[in-house]
Amino acid sequence: MKVIVLGSGAREHAIAVALKRSRAVSEVIVAPGNALTALDAKNVACRPADPEAVLQLVLAERADFVVVGPEAPLLAGVVDRLHAYGVPVLGPTQDAALLEGSKAHSKKAMVEAGVLTAGYHTFKDLDACLEHMQIHPAAYVVKADGLMAGKGVIVADDVTQSMAAAKELFAAGQTVVIERRLRGKEASLIALTDGCDYRLFPIARDHKRLMTGDKGKNTGGMGAFCPVALSAAEFEGQPVLTDTALAERAIAPILAWQRRRKQPYRGFLYAGLMFDAGKPHVLEYNARLGDPETQVLLSAMDGDVLPAFYAAAHGDFADSDWPDASGAAVCVVLAAEGYPDAPKSGARIDGIGRAREQPGVLVFGAGVARDGDAFVTSGGRVLSVVGHGATIDVARQRAYAAVECIAFAGMQFRTDIAAPPSVGRGKPQ
Ligand code: AMP
Ligand code: GLY
Repeated sequence: MKVIVLGSGAREHAIAVALKRSRAVSEVIVAPGNALTALDAKNVACRPADPEAVLQLVLAERADFVVVGPEAPLLAGVVDRLHAYGVPVLGPTQDAALLEGSKAHSKKAMVEAGVLTAGYHTFKDLDACLEHMQIHPAAYVVKADGLMAGKGVIVADDVTQSMAAAKELFAAGQTVVIERRLRGKEASLIALTDGCDYRLFPIARDHKRLMTGDKGKNTGGMGAFCPVALSAAEFEGQPVLTDTALAERAIAPILAWQRRRKQPYRGFLYAGLMFDAGKPHVLEYNARLGDPETQVLLSAMDGDVLPAFYAAAHGDFADSDWPDASGAAVCVVLAAEGYPDAPKSGARIDGIGRAREQPGVLVFGAGVARDGDAFVTSGGRVLSVVGHGATIDVARQRAYAAVECIAFAGMQFRTDIAAPPSVGRGKPQ
């Protein structure tokens, strides 16, 4: 089978590597990919969010299956276009992907489906929003409605900051959602679904702040690990829920809601959870795998993901296997100088080859390009360095040993990814 993975980041690189392990896969193409995906798969230039361009690529390559990495192609209707041509593709339709593409839609879906989430209001008018905040002063989380490439959410500490956030986000969009600010630990629960049934990935945790100790700016994610052993620390006296019980609250009701709307949801569904007062609230849905969660989830899984991916795309898991995920993995993101505000491109990267040779290590590329024989930085998050093994400790040691091999000017990374709290993960939120 010839498979095309749409996208160009470390998530797509990890998907490509996982698919390449499958006995049923003869070739993996990443479109457009990056300088490191080219080491493990074939790169083909393509605008992944252009449905016509993707269809032409599939036809030209005679590909058998397409896996969509990022959200932009989903919301641009790539899946719908390929469906119309009978091309098997893994990802939700444009309408179903609105669970990620519109915060207002997503919150309405959660409430109608009976999913626990922060109380919210939607505003189409700045003055009405500010008036509401004045009457009900609090710390709000303010969210622009549309896709904002991760920049549309402001978590405020008080009402003054909340009002400033509303002004900022109304300037960027037409509709704004404000919601109660929750407090608690976060976790990423990701399912693969055929529309009815679902399979769970291990629970993962993303480290969003730029600097060690959860300091500095919010980023797209500076690292991740899995599995997260949820315990009393998350549930704060409430009953501790298993992964399956969490999915019954956070995943199953939304899939049923989609079916009731006659818009079944197929593909990956990511629930961002926060344990406020020990209760798992859904902060958001993503219509795709997480980045950097994917880099750890697929590295920790042993076995062939293709049969379940392909079956989900066809709307019926039937009896396809779901690989064992008993391993652990830790991902450390190496970011460019100036990230996240103004990442510098063009710095020469040394040591990628040596890092890739370390045992239990995978190095996935994102903002990385070729300059002659050398690799150079070409984006904010440059590399995802993953260690995997039987335990988090082993995986963590392997990841950081591989990080030691790599150097480029201005390289930024956190030293506390997956660290136990005593090693300075910072105060719990
Ligand atoms: P979102 O894109 O909606 O997941 O928001 C991005 C990040 O903002 C989340 O991962 C949380 O860290 C934070 N966040 C979102 N909603 C809330 C909330 N209601 N309370 C506290 N933090 C939130
Ligand atoms: N790691 C969070 C995301 O992929 O949106």
